[in-house]
Amino acid sequence: MIDACVFDAYGTLFDVGAAARTAAAEPGSARWAGRWPQIAADWRRKQLEYSWLRAVAGDHCDFWQVTQEALDWALEAAGLDDPALRDRLLALYWELSAFPEVPAMLDALAAQGRRLAILSNGSPGMLSGAVGSAGLDTRFEALLSVESVGVFKPARAVYDLVGATLHLPPDQVLFVSSNGWDAAAGAAYGFVTVWVNREGAPLDRLPGRPAHVLRDLAALPDLIGVL
Ligand code: LAC
Repeated sequence: MIDACVFDAYGTLFDVGAAARTAAAEPGSARWAGRWPQIAADWRRKQLEYSWLRAVAGDHCDFWQVTQEALDWALEAAGLDDPALRDRLLALYWELSAFPEVPAMLDALAAQGRRLAILSNGSPGMLSGAVGSAGLDTRFEALLSVESVGVFKPARAVYDLVGATLHLPPDQVLFVSSNGWDAAAGAAYGFVTVWVNREGAPLDRLPGRPAHVLRDLAALPDLIGVL
């Protein structure tokens, strides 16, 4: 029996591509607008790499610092030395939009009586900013940030936060992530896991295999209803 749904934040509920895509549509962006997908992909890739490397090295800082350092790498790789653009992209990251299916999906899960939480690398400030700007601030009983344990995913200490906070065993928790490596880690930990494979990517070859794969979050309430 699934009592709680615990969501990864970035890429799962919130569209991490939205910052560069939005900035590219604004006046004055013509010289780089055509390259926004590469900038967004580099930014995300470096953000994750830096989080993993800091976790392995035992050299933690918060996700906002990692996000800024990754953006600096991505902008330099694109040949862009533009402090105003950097500021604009970071401001937009603080208020990323949720994917379109998210509000109705959360409504349906709440109607089923599921408890709802977020478990994310994001700092507490980033998470409250994201849920607030997406109009989702009343939907979750907990916004669990890795800052409580001082190490990034996929360290087990992060996934321990769910049981410590919700007081449920892992097999009563549905863990939902669009990040294949995070879904693998959640499955290895013992959560019933859904990988939201938005990009149609191959399965990550890691310990732990998500029990379920969806293309987006729209079908999640029906899936969980039959578990
Ligand atoms: C998070 C990253 C992994 O929200 O997207 O934890």
